[in-house]
Amino acid sequence: MKVFAVIFFALLVCLVSLNAEGSTNVIIPKPRLFIPLDSHFLLNDQTHYYSDAPLALNAVNYLQEHLLLQAGYKLKTGQSGVPNTIDYLRDPDLKQEAYTLDVTADKIVIRANSQAGFFYATVSLMQLMDPVIWSLHKSDVPRKSWMMPSCSIEDAPRFQWRGMMLDTARNFFSVAYVKKFIDRMAQHKLNLFHWHLTDDEGWRIEIKKYPLLTQIGAKRGPGTALPFSFYPAMRGPKDKLEEGYYTQDEIREIVAYAAKRSVNVLPEIDIPAHAKAAVTAYPELLQDPNDKSRYTSIQKVSNNTIDAGLESTYVFLENIVKEVTTLFPFEYIHLGGDEIPKGAWSKSPAVEKLMQTEQLKNIQEVQDYFFTEMDRILARHDRKMVAWQEVREHNTALRDDTIIIAWRGNGAGVKAAKKQQKVIMAPAQYLYFDQQYVKSSGEPGHTWAGPTDTQDAYSYDPTAQISDEDVKGSIQGVHGCLWSERAPTEAIADYLAWPRIFSLSEIAWSPQKERNWDDFKRRAFGKGMQRLESQTISHRDTSK
Ligand code: ACM
Repeated sequence: MKVFAVIFFALLVCLVSLNAEGSTNVIIPKPRLFIPLDSHFLLNDQTHYYSDAPLALNAVNYLQEHLLLQAGYKLKTGQSGVPNTIDYLRDPDLKQEAYTLDVTADKIVIRANSQAGFFYATVSLMQLMDPVIWSLHKSDVPRKSWMMPSCSIEDAPRFQWRGMMLDTARNFFSVAYVKKFIDRMAQHKLNLFHWHLTDDEGWRIEIKKYPLLTQIGAKRGPGTALPFSFYPAMRGPKDKLEEGYYTQDEIREIVAYAAKRSVNVLPEIDIPAHAKAAVTAYPELLQDPNDKSRYTSIQKVSNNTIDAGLESTYVFLENIVKEVTTLFPFEYIHLGGDEIPKGAWSKSPAVEKLMQTEQLKNIQEVQDYFFTEMDRILARHDRKMVAWQEVREHNTALRDDTIIIAWRGNGAGVKAAKKQQKVIMAPAQYLYFDQQYVKSSGEPGHTWAGPTDTQDAYSYDPTAQISDEDVKGSIQGVHGCLWSERAPTEAIADYLAWPRIFSLSEIAWSPQKERNWDDFKRRAFGKGMQRLESQTISHRDTSK
């Protein structure tokens, strides 16, 4: 009996995996509903498109740009419903970001009710095409026809915010790289680019009112005011100059590029700690000259914290917020708030005076005061706050729509959600992609929260430890983080990011009950990898 059971089980496993192998669903993240059909559509230079929705044009252009490079032609406009046409139709009953995609032998029909919905339908369609469609280099041998398997898809995201953070402060990344990073996010239906623009090691955003922030704060190494070698080792040899910042024009260009891909850009100005570059540029505005506090951050950076007792601090930061709002239309600004070192402010006469006038009992209350003031500043400029979890662990009186990013483990996010705080889940143990995949001296990456291989990341379910639907509703989304202390080059950054961003996209988008590692593995390490390769994106290619 036992033997039969084992044989039966083995056969079942074979059948299931054969079925998975044979599946035409190669889309990442996995759509909510995918029904394979038994035919295919052939796109060629006679294929037309029709659209009744201006909201779709952005997505059409995205497809056209890729077609022009790889096929050497664009779709022409045509009539709805005729053979060999892609119809982009507005459907007012579909929710934000939702779409349907029907591929049959004679036509393709896309329905959506938003720019994002049309865009996501289009990237799903492009994922059904030969991975070559994703190449950014003009093809020498244009491919004339493109086959897409017939299918019927209904799709919508699990979470509203599907984010990825790139740390451009520890190491600077070029405008071209940032754009590519955003484009790849968009290909996987991630919609929030969290841009870590300032930290101890560099201030990377041009602020017209305070030019020294970039003249002094965007350079480190020999002959600069930031000559110290940070821990851990940064880009290249310690005696090499490291520099770079984004001009306001470049930032506008990147924000517009992201908007075309339905990606919002969340700028992070990390204060009051992690601010060595800023306090080095403007010590007279940001540090109390009589402060005798001496402290080092967890990353071993000394005296890196903006003084919360100085009036000039708040004037300075309001001016920064003002300029940031002219560059970033997104309703939220991230103000950091992580890892204020023990000992900071403890011997600042300015903070002491503040404590007396505001009746603050301890340094924690000073921190709460600082963020309450910052929230008022944001409100004056019509923005809301995102911050790291530390900012709301106490009784800070922030507006209800403040969002915190819980990074110190899943429990921190669950705790915040149970307090009905809006929270984005980014537990370091699963979603910090600067951690090593596997523990090995040959692998790039940090070790403090990892190792985290692609399967570990994939196994994360943000609501697994929450049963109450109301509490689940506090979870706004998920976020991967690519810190760059250990990502000195673009190739290493990409290696750390991919394929783990595949995992993130599926956690963020696909219904939990539809998620399955074996099926994911087939898509990720099959067509998913090929799509990366056709874009010459470095990645880790073992399915562990
Ligand atoms: C963090 O990792 N310090 C937010």
